[in-house]
Order: sequence, then structure tokens, then C-alpha cells
Amino acid sequence: MLPVAIAPSLLSADFARLADEIASVRGAELLHVDVMDGRFVPNLTIGAPVVASLRKVTDIPLDCHLMVQNPDLLLEDFAKAGARYLSVHIEACPHLHRTVQRVRALGMAPGVALNPHTSFAQLEPILPFVDFVLVMSVNPGFGGQSFIAEVLGKVRAIDAWRKANRSSLAIEIDGGITADTIAQARQAGCDWFVAGSAVFGKPDRAAAMANLRVAAVR
Ligand code: DX5
Ligand code: ZN
Repeated sequence: MLPVAIAPSLLSADFARLADEIASVRGAELLHVDVMDGRFVPNLTIGAPVVASLRKVTDIPLDCHLMVQNPDLLLEDFAKAGARYLSVHIEACPHLHRTVQRVRALGMAPGVALNPHTSFAQLEPILPFVDFVLVMSVNPGFGGQSFIAEVLGKVRAIDAWRKANRSSLAIEIDGGITADTIAQARQAGCDWFVAGSAVFGKPDRAAAMANLRVAAVR
């Protein structure tokens, strides 16, 4: 396992005050940016121009989660905007290996995201080529949904794979992470914890992040 990293998800922040919201999560290891196209998921959020602006107001590495059809069209724009980590959905990429190679060639760390119903067997062939896996523990599209604990079996399979292959792959989990659910995710093998409502939904963000860190190892 890798050290715990907390990735506050801007989806639950106040979009009219993004710079202030980002300042309130100082100390976070990653800043999670949910990019939705209204097609792959039933919601529409932000794109590369906003990411370029975010880059100017923070040094926290930007972790861009592309919930879009045809992500290949956007990769260059996100690289130019300053994304450090970039995940594409396995369900949205017919030529996943090519897409992942392109993400790396553009200077970003590639990750693959998978929906709750997508199996470990579908993920395994791409694992040697990515830096991280983003396991969705809710159906993508919205913040504030309930954690689907059944995805933890998949996390255990990924964790076993990386041990067997001496891989430094990181396992990120996204959706329904709270002080009540984070420990079981950590025990299953997760390293990076996306938290939208559990951070930006609380008035004191530093306390919310500290709570998650304590709860992760409980
Ligand atoms: C959902 C997004 C998540 C979302 C998580 O599609 O990928 O990153 O912001 O929100 P919470 O932590 O509230 O479940
Ligand atoms: Zn996300």
C-alpha cells in the first residue's frame, strides 16, 4: 500500500468561488476535477479552460477524471491546461491502450477509471500501462451518493495483482467516501481517496480532511 492521499473533489465546491475553495483545502495531496460531458454521464461540468485557470491558483497536483465519451479529443487540451494525473473511463475507450499511451506521451500520469459494474477481468490487461486505477464506488455523474461496498472485492483483486507483479500502481477510490466508509476502503487496499461532500460539504475543510485521515487508519 502507498501512503494515504486525500483528493477533495471540486464537484462539491462552490463554483462561483473556486480559488477560495481551493485555498481552503491546503494540504490535500491531490485536487480532484470531475469533467463530465452530459453524454457519458447525465451531468455537465467543466473543461480544460477552467483547469488552466485552476492551475494558476494552486500548486496541488490536478487529478482530472474524464467522464466523457471520446476522451482522445480532449487529451492535448488537458495537458496544456496543466493536468498532472488524468484518468479515462475504460467504458468510453475502444482503443484504451492507445489512449493511455497518448496521455503519457503528453506528459501526464495515466489512470483508468471503471464503473461499479465493470469487472477486474476487463481491467487487468491495461494495468501494466497505467500509474493508477480509479475505482468508482458510486455510479458516476453526481456527488453525495451512497458508497457501494461491493466494489471493494475489485479493489482487493487490484491490490493482489500489484503485489504479485511488484507494481507501484496507486488505487484511487471515488464516490461516497466519508469518515464512515474510508477505513474499509483503506483495508481493501485503496491509497487515494476522493472526497467531495465529505470535504466541501463541511464548513471546516481542514478538520474534515483531518477526520478522514484519522478514520482511514482506524
Ligand atoms: C462522481 C464524481 C466524484 C464525486 C464524488 O461522478 O466522480 O468525484 O465528486 O462525490 P462524493 O465524495 O460526494 O461522493
Ligand atoms: Zn471523480
